[in-house]
Amino acid sequence: MSWDIENINKQIQEDLNNISDVASLESFRIKYLGRKGLISQILSNLGNVSSEERPKLGKLANELKQRVLVLIDEKKIQLAQDQDAEGAQVLDFSLPGIFQEIGHEHPVTQVIRQSCEIFIKLGFKIIEGPEIETEFNNFTALNIPLEHPSRDGFDTFYLEQPNCPVDKRLLLRSHTSPVQIRVMKKHIPPLAVLVPGKVYRPDAVDASHSFVFHQIEGFFVDRQVRFSDLKGVLVHFAKELFGKDIQMRFRPHFFPFTEPSAEVDISCIICKQQKQKTKNRRCSVCGGKSWLEILGAGMIHPHVFEAVGYPKGKYAGFAFGMGVERIAMLKFGINDIRLFFENDLRFLRQF
Ligand code: DAH
Repeated sequence: MSWDIENINKQIQEDLNNISDVASLESFRIKYLGRKGLISQILSNLGNVSSEERPKLGKLANELKQRVLVLIDEKKIQLAQDQDAEGAQVLDFSLPGIFQEIGHEHPVTQVIRQSCEIFIKLGFKIIEGPEIETEFNNFTALNIPLEHPSRDGFDTFYLEQPNCPVDKRLLLRSHTSPVQIRVMKKHIPPLAVLVPGKVYRPDAVDASHSFVFHQIEGFFVDRQVRFSDLKGVLVHFAKELFGKDIQMRFRPHFFPFTEPSAEVDISCIICKQQKQKTKNRRCSVCGGKSWLEILGAGMIHPHVFEAVGYPKGKYAGFAFGMGVERIAMLKFGINDIRLFFENDLRFLRQF
């Protein structure tokens, strides 16, 4: 019997092209490599071949066998890839899943949210203003006149606008107080509003300063509002945020947009005012002073009501403003403001 190897090769190629699944690949394997397959037949027939032809044919048959083995392996890989590409049923449910890390609120966001929740329960509305403000809203309407030294504490970044009239000049707001102006210009009292947001100041960055930080502004305006209303609201807020044992202290202060004005302290949440007598055992947070400043507040200045066009003497109101990072630093015992802005997950995961 003679074998037309060339023809067999052709046939193999043709059969291979018709393989579309694992079952037809197995039939292909049996046809060529099976016990009764073509290659076995060639090998078992070697005895009938002339002794001259025998080694040649034996070699060809073995080469053929190797070739078919390689073709089968290649086809197997190709079939698997085709299936994967189709998104086919190659899902392996025993493989571990892809872990999706669930994030959580940044400590600054936590303080903002908790504060909003406290004031919402008191009937306050949350309103946000733009970070780019007019000079009028950020300064003039808040009784901070141009060239007045009271501007120094609220210095800011100006946007470049050649030949722009002063009050229309744009800047990055240096506090959230201008939102008082925006709201009051648009609405008549009663108003109870809380304003969280970012503010900017050209401060050199260090452990307690950043050129951008967050504030929460609050204000309440109605016919009859007294300083005791301010006090009641702030004491309630501090106890909700820091704990029922917290004490509060109002110190006289100056702000251009409130009169009278106060700086407000809470009793130290770390040492709980247990004054350490020896110098080297002073509380690291309050420095042995027992009090921590948390915000500025006061009764809204009549000039502010005038600037928004309210009738003289008709309304009264209180306002307050606090630095969110400062509150978060006290609440979580953080000693460097820069940590809030570095996005280092090793830091953020702790809160
Ligand atoms: N705007 C002040 C600041 O950035 C904070 C402040 C103090 C806001 C007293 C007020 C207030 O509304 O009454 O330092």
